[in-house]
Amino acid sequence: MSHITRASITAVGHYVPETRLTNQDLSQMVDTNDVWIRSRTGIEERRILTGKGKGTSYMAARAGREVLLKRGIAPEELDAIIVATVTPDMSFPATACLVQAELGATGAWGFDLSAACSGFLFALNTGAGLIESGRAAKVLVIGSDKMSSITDYTDRKTCVLFGDGAAGVLLEADNEGYGLIDSELNVDGRGWETLCMLGGGSLNPTTHDTVDRKMHYLHQDGQAVFKVAVKGMADVAVEIMKRNNLTGDDVRYLVPHQANQRIIGAVARRMGLGLDRVMLNISKYGNTTAATIPLCLHEWEHELRKGDRIVIAAFGGGFTWGATYLRWAYNAAPVPTNGVENSEKAELDV
Ligand code: ACO
Repeated sequence: MSHITRASITAVGHYVPETRLTNQDLSQMVDTNDVWIRSRTGIEERRILTGKGKGTSYMAARAGREVLLKRGIAPEELDAIIVATVTPDMSFPATACLVQAELGATGAWGFDLSAACSGFLFALNTGAGLIESGRAAKVLVIGSDKMSSITDYTDRKTCVLFGDGAAGVLLEADNEGYGLIDSELNVDGRGWETLCMLGGGSLNPTTHDTVDRKMHYLHQDGQAVFKVAVKGMADVAVEIMKRNNLTGDDVRYLVPHQANQRIIGAVARRMGLGLDRVMLNISKYGNTTAATIPLCLHEWEHELRKGDRIVIAAFGGGFTWGATYLRWAYNAAPVPTNGVENSEKAELDV
């Protein structure tokens, strides 16, 4: 038995909007088609948050509420809330503050973390640090992005890739050898221009000109990012396995950021894993940026068993990338028989 205090994931929650944007829908909007999108990316549809007054915090709060319900704790018990996002409701206050108020988490402090598609992984490790140091007992870590708010739906190179969604986890202390065991996290700012949103910050404050020049939309040099993403994600995942003496047979699941099915396949091959041990739901949601990894954890939660060895890997704008090796800490309660999804149809009373 280990006496090292580690941070374990003890509950997972999610929220996805009801509205679906299919490849067929997109083919009516730009010059694209279902075959191209599916063969190049693996995406079939994505969810879009519609309706006035709904931003990233709307989805994040609902995901957070599901985490609390599943763990059976009150919002007042939270010590901290970290929201990973590149689409905050506004520059400030932080989305985490809005989520804190919405949940009624009166004992929590919190902040947003910006690391694009690696946001959840970085936030998970930041939250784990609070637990391991003893500064917090319960940390809510959420990845939430309303990518439709920064997507140019006249640009076929990017608009087919992204969707909206949120998911999160609760982190608590563990002294039995479960939880986050090892991580390798990286940034390389030299790659910033290949994946960015130029307008709206202090460098290019919003003006008519920045709007006219479409600087408030995400811009990506897809091919350039593709190459570094494959190498970066695979190298770091293999490094984590080597450092912890893991073979492909030891890893129950790879939980990869869902940007492109071809990237994920290449990473799995380098790790010696068959696709049956890779969490893959990009076909349903597209790239939801900070939400992809916890959305996978939510979907596979009922298959995970206490002690399972999991590798999480991500790559995103910045560049940011990394991998975390963890041992899963619980067997989930049986799947609810009503099978409802936490979406607008089955909205929780937040
Ligand atoms: N429909 C039809 N044709 C298209 C589309 C489309 N939607 N988009 C591009 N094309 C065309 C291009 O114009 C090009 O045509 P051309 O040869 O006549 O010029 C051709 O298809 C090939 O385009 P590429 O950009 O080379 O396509 P590629 O195979 O690289 O796939 C993709 C593009 C899917 C974007 C891929 O490069 C990719 O996944 N990149 C990495 C994305 C990623 O990992 N991002 C990091 C995370 S995101 C974040 O951090 C927010």
